[in-house]
Amino acid sequence: MRLKRTLSLFDATALGIGAIIGAGIFVILGVASGLAGPAIILSIILAGIVASFTAVSYGKLSSTYPKEGSVYVFGKYAISPRVGFIAGWFWLFENIIAGVTVSIGLGSYIHTLFPVIPIVAAAAGGPFFLTILNLVGIKQSSIFNALLVILKVSALALFVIIGFAHLNFNFYHPFAPKGLKGILNGAALIFFAFIGFGRPTTTAEEIKNPRRTVPLSIGLALGISFLIYLLVGFTLVGLEPYQQLANSGSPLADAIDYGIKIYWLKVFISFAAIAATLSVLLTTLIGVSRVTFAMARDGYLPKYLSKVHWKYGTPYRAVLITGLFMSFLPLVVNISQSANITNFCSLLVYALVNLSAIFMWKKSKKKHEKLFLFISLLGLISCVILMFFLSWLSWLVGIIWLLIGLFYYRTYVKTFLKRIR
Ligand code: ALA
Repeated sequence: MRLKRTLSLFDATALGIGAIIGAGIFVILGVASGLAGPAIILSIILAGIVASFTAVSYGKLSSTYPKEGSVYVFGKYAISPRVGFIAGWFWLFENIIAGVTVSIGLGSYIHTLFPVIPIVAAAAGGPFFLTILNLVGIKQSSIFNALLVILKVSALALFVIIGFAHLNFNFYHPFAPKGLKGILNGAALIFFAFIGFGRPTTTAEEIKNPRRTVPLSIGLALGISFLIYLLVGFTLVGLEPYQQLANSGSPLADAIDYGIKIYWLKVFISFAAIAATLSVLLTTLIGVSRVTFAMARDGYLPKYLSKVHWKYGTPYRAVLITGLFMSFLPLVVNISQSANITNFCSLLVYALVNLSAIFMWKKSKKKHEKLFLFISLLGLISCVILMFFLSWLSWLVGIIWLLIGLFYYRTYVKTFLKRIR
């Protein structure tokens, strides 16, 4: 059974924004400001530039290979099945851990507003609820997502507009107290806020006219989010000293308390944070289940996971397994470690996306496409550089995951592929 093609440019862009704006700007921006100081604005610009290079590679790859599966499909067709598998393997891990990070952020904000609900219960309950929604159909999921996107974007806009009237310019001095290293550490961490811009590619077979719609939606979603992040970052460090923001789990709400002192705005921002984390989780669940589905359909993961529901047209087994992992893991991991691991894996995946694009550009006969090859090369190099500014633990976990993946590929996937040849 085939997937249904129901998503428009608006839906795909909302899916992208839904995936991008979440725990990164509402939670991790505080810790990142602690690393870079007010120069977090430069960290945001740097991280945004790295993401934009990669987005160019994503855009072209997705219009060349408009199939469900995203990075796995790019690596497989542009380079080799093994590279495709490793890209998909890391992509799945990155997104499950990102989902866990976001769930913990969601749990904290729910707990702030409703203290009777424990953080872990809310963190585990969020993915559980969204799994059910996801099972019913992607159109229903995307309508819900669009509503969440409208809510979070308007709350951030309000934060910036009201915040601008309360800025304390003394807080911008010294601008870069920890120098270039601080700015790069901040960029490596706040990169989390940009993860998700490629999400429309994961549902390419469910998007109308994907060759045009997918690249356009990636550019629109990333551009809009980049602008919002710059404004929010600039406003945040002008409302509260960065040293205090560094220790906050809800920096936007705290900055309102400190520098604006409007209670209803704080409540509104907290609700928006819940909406934002919910929408990131929802799109993560959609993306992970679709990549699982695509890899299973081709025999790179157990075939069992590729079954599409006869009535709802969703890959329900992949959705259920993904939802199960995301509901369980928040009970056992910690938010800053999981953000670092997420970034490590996603930078590695983006490096592979850029590499896939380089292979694709090299085959192209068109002269102007050489410029794009250069952009993909910059994307590859900048992703690798940022990885060196992440924690050693993220490297350790990444290397272990790589070894497990290679072992699995040798023992299971290779045998399977030989059998079907
Ligand atoms: N970019 C996503 C977020 O900030 C992962 O939550």
